Amino acid sequence: MKESYKIAVIGCGYWGPNLIRNFNSLPQINVKQVCDLDQKRLTHMKKLYPSVQTTTDVEEIIRDDETDAVAIATPVHLHYEPARRCMLAGKHTFIEKPMASSVAECLNLIELAEKENVTLMVGHTFVYSSAVQKMREIIDAGELGDILYISSQRLNLGLFQSDINVVWDLAPHDISIILDILGKEPIWVNGHGKAHFFDNIEDVATATLQFDNGEIAFLHQSWLDPYKVRRMTVVGSKKMLVYDDVQTNEKIKLFDKRVEAPPHYDTFAEFHFSYRYGDIYIPRLEECEPLKAECEHFVECIKQNKPPKSDGHSGLKIVAILEAICESMRNNGVAVGVNDRNGKRVPSKEFWGAKGKKSSLVV
Ligand SMILES: NC(=O)c1ccc[n+]([C@@H]2O[C@H](COP(=O)([O-])OP(=O)(O)OC[C@H]3O[C@@H](n4cnc5c(N)ncnc54)[C@H](O)[C@@H]3O)[C@@H](O)[C@H]2O)c1
Repeated sequence: MKESYKIAVIGCGYWGPNLIRNFNSLPQINVKQVCDLDQKRLTHMKKLYPSVQTTTDVEEIIRDDETDAVAIATPVHLHYEPARRCMLAGKHTFIEKPMASSVAECLNLIELAEKENVTLMVGHTFVYSSAVQKMREIIDAGELGDILYISSQRLNLGLFQSDINVVWDLAPHDISIILDILGKEPIWVNGHGKAHFFDNIEDVATATLQFDNGEIAFLHQSWLDPYKVRRMTVVGSKKMLVYDDVQTNEKIKLFDKRVEAPPHYDTFAEFHFSYRYGDIYIPRLEECEPLKAECEHFVECIKQNKPPKSDGHSGLKIVAILEAICESMRNNGVAVGVNDRNGKRVPSKEFWGAKGKKSSLVV
């Protein structure tokens, strides 16, 4: 087992520098190279990290046998090719969310990682946050009772992307959190959206995820909202939970609130809901930057040759759901079945009797 690892970061626009900063803070990691097509970004990175080598050519990283691992933070349509080339060169590969532009690309990358015996991890940052881990603990302990529904809003003004719509940009976070806390994937999804500024690039969207035990999740993403909102409400049969990631403290609140219908009644006059208004509990959360925990996990998985929590398969599940939401959006919100284990989608007519017409995904 190596004591330390050399890593290269490809793409230092908005998000890449956060990866560089976090990897750089880990004692077992040496950030050897950073790569970007934009020389200005490289000059800025060199100022912050004088020992780092800079390049505009990914090939230099691929050819460097000393580089053990890469982290890719380029626009989504440029994840696949550098990831493929780096894994072929035997480098452990971390790819920002969403893993790639299509299920087919994800499947190829998973197969390649297995063949080359390299670690493949996807940057689903929130599943490494103490807030999401606490939510999962609370749900697993049965404190909320049966999960009735989840509602999630991720809204702000901008940042408009030119290569992906708001679903591909923002929903990976909500979907990764929901799959993590429920421990399962939806059976079908649907989506609605509107592109106000660029053709086929929806800037506001909603999606519904239906799970096998009746749980349902409603998602709302927007680049066109006056407020920055990052809120998820989980409503259970016993209690309710609100996760507000915009709060610096008190990100999670557990409400002892519920509604109960009377078990027996003969007439409408006897029918009374009982509403419980109990205490609000705010659990203490570990203070740790989720991205740091994520970077540490990547290194730990490389060291121990173990699959990451957010491995290629979990990246694939999310991309399959994003594809299905967008397919639904292009077909007036028809329900689209999701069978992400193999990356194959079940025709929606099996669920709704709808046409389930296939459309090409525009990202
Ligand atoms: N985990 C998170 O919370 C989080 C947050 C924001 C963004 N992201 C993800 O990070 C990725 C990058 O997003 P961003 O907002 O930083 O985008 P960005 O456009 O700000 O930056 C991308 C950078 O990649 C560079 N680039 C493009 N092609 C390249 C190539 N062939 N070789 C080298 N560099 C190249 C660009 O010059 C640019 O500097 C996306 O996948 C995005 O979804 C993740």
